Amino acid sequence: MSLTQYYTATTLDGFIADPNDSLEWLFSREQDHDGPLNYAAFVAEVGALAMGSTTYEWIIDHEFSGKPAEEWKWPYEIPSWVFTHRKLRVFPGADVRFTSDEVASVHEQMVEAARGMNLWIVGGGDLVGQFADEGLLDEVIVYVAPVTLGAGKPLLPRSVELQLEETAPNGDFVCSRYAVVKS
Ligand SMILES: NC(=O)c1ccc[n+]([C@@H]2O[C@H](COP(=O)([O-])OP(=O)(O)OC[C@H]3O[C@@H](n4cnc5c(N)ncnc54)[C@H](OP(=O)(O)O)[C@@H]3O)[C@@H](O)[C@H]2O)c1
Repeated sequence: MSLTQYYTATTLDGFIADPNDSLEWLFSREQDHDGPLNYAAFVAEVGALAMGSTTYEWIIDHEFSGKPAEEWKWPYEIPSWVFTHRKLRVFPGADVRFTSDEVASVHEQMVEAARGMNLWIVGGGDLVGQFADEGLLDEVIVYVAPVTLGAGKPLLPRSVELQLEETAPNGDFVCSRYAVVKS
């Protein structure tokens, strides 16, 4: 059965980006890319993903700034949904589906596209919360960086009960996987 997972890095005080959407606090840290809860092993099990428009535009602005659009390459090979009410710039040839449909309906489409593999809700935190509100979030996997920011984009601005399934240090981070406790 496919799991719907939120895999992300966060500051100790629960922010996934600073108030200006910078991830400088994250990219300055060390991690073992073959270590516990590593990204490569995680993403190998993912068959579809979803994100909000700020995250999508961050990818465009930071990965491709200065390059002509024909050189842009969407970093994912799996079907991807981007939640937005706006018309956004597109990656030529990428399987990116813009939507403002109900999350439950998009979740059904993602399950079908993923063919038994897991679903990754990339972020931001409120979008993950919208899936949690519908009882559609199964796991939260976090890399906690040794830093506080005091303000920024929230990790998960909801009340969600979690059960710790595994935890381990990885470089500068403490990495943990939690199951969402469903009532
Ligand atoms: N630390 C990490 O590993 C990590 C992981 C992921 C993201 N990030 C960063 O965290 C930040 C997240 O930004 P964010 O909190 O603003 O969240 P976001 O989810 O990336 O973007 C929020 C926007 O998505 C659109 N949206 C959300 N829900 C929607 C719905 N149900 N229907 C239609 N549109 C919807 C809305 O924009 P419009 O309708 O106006 O388009 C909303 O303002 C970004 O800077 C990102 O780069 C960090």
